[in-house]
Amino acid sequence: MTTSPQVTVLGLGNMGRALARAFLAHGHPTTVWNRSPEKGAELVAAGATRAATVADAVSTAGLVVVCVVDYRVSRQLLEPAAEALRGRTVVNLTADSPDAARDLAAWAAEHGIDYLDGSIMTPTITIDTPDAVLIYSGPAGLYERHRATLAALGGSQHHLGADPGRAAAFDVALLDLFWTAVSGLTHAFALAKAEGIDGADLAPFARSIIGLLGSSADELAERIDTGRHDADVSPLETVAAGLAHVIEAADRRGMDTSVQRAAHAQMRRVVDAGHGADDVSRLTTALLPDPASTLRQ
Ligand SMILES: NC(=O)c1ccc[n+]([C@@H]2O[C@H](COP(=O)([O-])OP(=O)(O)OC[C@H]3O[C@@H](n4cnc5c(N)ncnc54)[C@H](OP(=O)(O)O)[C@@H]3O)[C@@H](O)[C@H]2O)c1
Repeated sequence: MTTSPQVTVLGLGNMGRALARAFLAHGHPTTVWNRSPEKGAELVAAGATRAATVADAVSTAGLVVVCVVDYRVSRQLLEPAAEALRGRTVVNLTADSPDAARDLAAWAAEHGIDYLDGSIMTPTITIDTPDAVLIYSGPAGLYERHRATLAALGGSQHHLGADPGRAAAFDVALLDLFWTAVSGLTHAFALAKAEGIDGADLAPFARSIIGLLGSSADELAERIDTGRHDADVSPLETVAAGLAHVIEAADRRGMDTSVQRAAHAQMRRVVDAGHGADDVSRLTTALLPDPASTLRQ
């Protein structure tokens, strides 16, 4: 008879509790620790072991999963337990920047701790369901070693490469997309409301525009990867003119247009550099740190 590997979960916020519940549900002996211990009560009732300190929590773990607010806190928790962690595997599922992930991976390597970084791309309710999406980066062999245990978290799980910062890089790029899209969505509904249009009337049209973004992502990817920027449909100059109409309409209703103005100014800079006939993909290259070189191409 095989026994399921023991898992320790450090951090029992909304996501940490969901992760610990999933490991318990899949039969993993699960030890939990949280700064505010009362958040572990429901898990202890479900069979988890509560540890008094981080070092105690990790001392028998086959896999240590961290899920706290950021990497500053991750490190604050892990550093005093470095000796107890030596030879064990830490998977940090906390969200932060790619460089923070690389720094923590370097610290772990110095202390003989095997380290995988990860990001959870979906909300707590998806954990241990087919809808969960988790991404990892770090040594491929380490991911393979713990893959069966991590499968308890459900859904689709992807190892994206050896660079420990790569999962966090995907995470921040996708959060960039999501939150700026949410900003556009909220502004669009406000502009419609200011024009007397109810949310329910706009929603079906908004949904079909959002659907277009899926194929735009594929096309943008192909253009960025091949360096092809000639416009097939909408040249940047026309796109910028369309955004100017949005700003004008919103200004007339006394709305905040700071985000739209910033986006318009970015487009105008590229148009003014002589790329008004190019596709919006030219904008991506121009946003990189040395746009002058790409704008000259
Ligand atoms: N919630 C989601 O749906 C979701 C989805 C995807 C990714 N994530 C990521 O998952 C991570 C955790 O999110 P969450 O929703 O669980 O957040 P949360 O509910 O706010 O929990 C934050 C956790 O961090 C701990 N913490 C904060 N400051 C601390 C400190 N100084 N010392 C020790 N522990 C500290 C908290 O401990 P206390 O309980 O003692 O305050 C708690 O365990 C984040 O990186 C988040 O971006 C969350």
